[in-house]
Amino acid sequence: MKKVKKLVVGNWKMNPTSLEEAKKLVLSVKRSTRNLKRTEVVLCPPFIYLSAVSGFTGENIFLGAQNANHETVGSFTGEVSFAELSQFKVDYVILGHSERRKMGESDELINKKVRSVVGGGMNAIICIGESTRDSNGDFYGFLKQQILSSLKDVPKKLLGQIIIAYEPIWAVGAREAISPRDLHEMTIFIKKVLKDLCGVSADGTRILYGGDADRVNADELVKEGNVSGLLVGRESLNAKDFIEIIKLVDSI
Ligand code: PGA
Repeated sequence: MKKVKKLVVGNWKMNPTSLEEAKKLVLSVKRSTRNLKRTEVVLCPPFIYLSAVSGFTGENIFLGAQNANHETVGSFTGEVSFAELSQFKVDYVILGHSERRKMGESDELINKKVRSVVGGGMNAIICIGESTRDSNGDFYGFLKQQILSSLKDVPKKLLGQIIIAYEPIWAVGAREAISPRDLHEMTIFIKKVLKDLCGVSADGTRILYGGDADRVNADELVKEGNVSGLLVGRESLNAKDFIEIIKLVDSI
């Protein structure tokens, strides 16, 4: 059986401010990642840079979008559809990021987007995460619900195109990542939810971690947390740091 590669996803969010900087960043990452053996890199620039960045895809670099509208075409001011994205060699779409949920995206809307994206042949990186951890463990139920609602009515044969990114909200953009030990618990929990849902082992579904992942904690988060890679925000904007993270993950 072909081994599924690890993934390091760079979520550029609303950065950088110029096209020149965007090109410089992708070029540096591309140059330094030619010899990866076990890892693929997904760069998720803002929509306006997708076309330029898509010119650098290939080898170990893949293109991702930070969002997609679930409708194919029509009167939706300011939106970009999943079908439009596929023209730019977009292979991955981040969906349900906590910053978008905060802007009002509901579980129901995220589910529609997931179905459109995987139905359109792309991979959906579904972000889930609790805002706080209560001592009763209620957040487990919350996360289970986020997974189940995002995958509602997704045909089982398309589940291979699903990636779950566990991103606890308290760690995103903060200076506090989860401990590798707690992350390991979360990985086991997410796999169990997926197994109960699909009836098969969820070993093929990649689970990523995001939230203050950096070059200092990358190695132990992936190794001890038993995840298939990382979703990196801030540190993906600094080529040197991001490349170091990628290489660390590849060496595991
Ligand atoms: P961060 O962001 O790495 O800056 O914490 C992660 C994310 O929002 O995906």
